[in-house]
Amino acid sequence: MVREELEQTLVLIKPDALKNSLTGYILSQLSEFHTGLRFAGAKVVHVTRLLAEEHYAEHRAKVFFESLLEYLQGKLHYPDEPHKQRVIAIVYQGRNAIAGMRDVVGPTNPHQARDARPGSIRALGTVVPITDEGGEVIGTRLDNLIHASANPADAEREIKLWFKPTDIPPSMRIFPTAACDTHFYYRDQRVYTTYTTGSICLAAPGDVLWDTDLEVLELVCRGADAPYSLGAVAAKYLTNLTEEE
Ligand code: CDP
Ligand code: MG
Repeated sequence: MVREELEQTLVLIKPDALKNSLTGYILSQLSEFHTGLRFAGAKVVHVTRLLAEEHYAEHRAKVFFESLLEYLQGKLHYPDEPHKQRVIAIVYQGRNAIAGMRDVVGPTNPHQARDARPGSIRALGTVVPITDEGGEVIGTRLDNLIHASANPADAEREIKLWFKPTDIPPSMRIFPTAACDTHFYYRDQRVYTTYTTGSICLAAPGDVLWDTDLEVLELVCRGADAPYSLGAVAAKYLTNLTEEE
């Protein structure tokens, strides 16, 4: 679909990397000199539960899911410092960006990374036991410092989940956009075309949206089935708004 040299992937520098001052090291490992990839977009995000849930939706039923959400939200590494609870989200672009970035990042499990790919970024991660309320170990969480999209479908979904089209320079956008011609407001997990107190404006006439996001908003407004959830559209408009969450 996308020309190979224009492939894009989403990278998240996770809270454990920030906590351990590995951001500079990671950015250096991912530099164009080493990877041949360029920045297409970058932002600092205070991650809401909604964004974390949408990002890791495929893991909803797993034993580590709740712990994973808290991890991505920075609640585990900065429990008493909300202002430090953030991730750095970056879109990288270039030839073979998705597979190439997964390679630099290394295997999901830091122990396997240390064995199989000692120089990879995730080889510097940790494996942490997850306990229940009684202190019983019920599983493990992999604090592996960095996320990178696993395949082209995930890359498109994740880039659209974290970034608005206008976060990316027009000449570097690889997914189609569309101009909105109405207002869409969000409140209590529903979408409206008129404002009520407490609702948040997702889009106004003239705004540039991912074409699939606009389609989802229009379908959800009409009560029809949509290709993905309203939450996946709204999440990026709801981060960094207030000190809540
Ligand atoms: O991140 P990646 O695509 O390599 O792995 P995943 O299987 O999609 O899992 C997503 C994230 O969940 C991982 O990066 C880990 O941080 C976490 N995870 C975990 O805590 N425990 C596991 N057994 C598997 C994954
Ligand atoms: Mg994955």
